[in-house]
Amino acid sequence: MQAAHIGNSILDEGHEALAQQVNALWDYWRHTGDRPSLIAALNAFIGQLRHHFSLEEIIIRGAGFPATDHHSERHHTLLATIAGVRNQLAIDSTLRLSEAMQDLESLLCDHELIEDSAYWPYLQRFADHAEAMRNTRSGQILQWHETYLTGNIQIDSHHRSLMYHAERLNRLAGQQARHQFSHAMHEFRALAAHHFRVEESVLAEQDQDIGQTHRLAHVGLMRSLDAMIQRVEQGKLAPLSFARDFLSFWMLNHITEGDMKDFRRLAPTLAAQAL
Ligand SMILES: [Fe+2]
Ligand SMILES: [Fe+2]
Ligand SMILES: [Fe+2]
Ligand SMILES: [Fe+2]
Repeated sequence: MQAAHIGNSILDEGHEALAQQVNALWDYWRHTGDRPSLIAALNAFIGQLRHHFSLEEIIIRGAGFPATDHHSERHHTLLATIAGVRNQLAIDSTLRLSEAMQDLESLLCDHELIEDSAYWPYLQRFADHAEAMRNTRSGQILQWHETYLTGNIQIDSHHRSLMYHAERLNRLAGQQARHQFSHAMHEFRALAAHHFRVEESVLAEQDQDIGQTHRLAHVGLMRSLDAMIQRVEQGKLAPLSFARDFLSFWMLNHITEGDMKDFRRLAPTLAAQAL
């Protein structure tokens, strides 16, 4: 299996790793023909794929790809299909392994090479915009804009501050100060965790269901942030890639796709309470 490269280091590395894992699964089976071990390897692969899909969804939502919900449903379907193949392998000894592997590979190739390419123009537009912003006098990629207002003063001030910190990480990533970058990354994480807690309680006070769904979205965002921080600290991800290819998308995903929608849904309630 071959991976396509799109210029976002996080996604490119993810696709490359998945392609290698599929090839490794093939080799493993060819050499051993051992069904239980293949099922165990397939389990580990499903975990990696789930992680890649959740990162991809955060990035493409942050890039403004309008069909992210549909793309995310495709990810769910793919995971369910692969889990189904794994289950069949476990219970049906007549199922031919080579055919199952072939189906799995072509499913993934179709998705990564064809369906994923639908979001490429949005990532390119985002990268072009970031480049243009970098060349302005302020040099800021992430800039606060009043269209990001949620209507809650505390939440809006948190968002401004988070954007400021994310922008600082963008700047620090281009410098040599590794220790300073690591420190700033953890400051950002602490601030984001605090902000999420406050936001969840504000939303849950207005509507339990919205608060709960929003909390789950935060869990996913935090998990991806922690995974990326860990990769930077392990030296597997460059600070510049963390800041430019992940954090900018993460930040915009959180505000424009999550918060603004939910706070707007609750706007009449919040306005009535303010009277
Ligand atoms: Fe992908
Ligand atoms: Fe995808
Ligand atoms: Fe949020
Ligand atoms: Fe927020």
